[in-house]
Amino acid sequence: MNPLVQPAPRGPLLGVNIDHVATLRNARGGDHPDPVRAALHALRGGADIITFHLREDRRHIRDADVHRLREQVHAPLNFESALTPEMLDIIDGMRPAMVCLVPERRQELTTEGGLDVRGQFERVRDACARLGASDCRVSLFIEADAQQIDAAAASGAPCVELHTGAFADALEAGDTQLAQRQLERLREGIARARAAGLQTNAGHGLTLRSTPELARMPEIRELHIGHALVGHALFVGLEQAVRDFKACIESA
Ligand code: PXP
Repeated sequence: MNPLVQPAPRGPLLGVNIDHVATLRNARGGDHPDPVRAALHALRGGADIITFHLREDRRHIRDADVHRLREQVHAPLNFESALTPEMLDIIDGMRPAMVCLVPERRQELTTEGGLDVRGQFERVRDACARLGASDCRVSLFIEADAQQIDAAAASGAPCVELHTGAFADALEAGDTQLAQRQLERLREGIARARAAGLQTNAGHGLTLRSTPELARMPEIRELHIGHALVGHALFVGLEQAVRDFKACIESA
């Protein structure tokens, strides 16, 4: 069995997304703060996985970062990628442990909505076969929608990451009724994905307040968290920020 597709020992594993460190670096065009150094600090704080997104416009992570991550970070790397020939070629060369296929639109501030697996089924299925042959564990970033989950299961991907943004945003905005509805939607999605034999991960928009709700769901294997964690790190340091999120997951 693929060791990356197994039940979690103490709550979900934590994937720390370092894109936001690269965004800060790129604001001044120099080399600081270095996202690779951030990855090493995150691992010292207890991160299980390092997540990054090489976007088509290279707005945060750059190609050179990807090469340095591969050389210097000896932990599972989760490469978030659009489904384009250019990205699939880069992934073939790098062979990260994990690839998460995401939708990408140039104008968006962050990944908005999930991948439309159903609407581009053949492309997704072919990419899953190609990446699987390169020993990458493929995950599809989708909404907790029955049709998308069924399409993901049929595509050959072993894993999905369910989009938690609507739930997390509602909770932060204090709209508890909407948050509860979104959480129920996620619960149903997780149950459907598990029944279809998919490993189920989750992420997007999670904070110290919203993370425990997901962390206490035993079916979730990994949580991928970036913006709130890096924001918290400004006040407590990156290693401590990772420790705080790990503690929040483990005590949930
Ligand atoms: N998961 C996926 C697939 C993402 O695209 C992102 C954002 O890069 C995240 C998780 C992390 O989201 P956030 O930065 O809001 O925590």
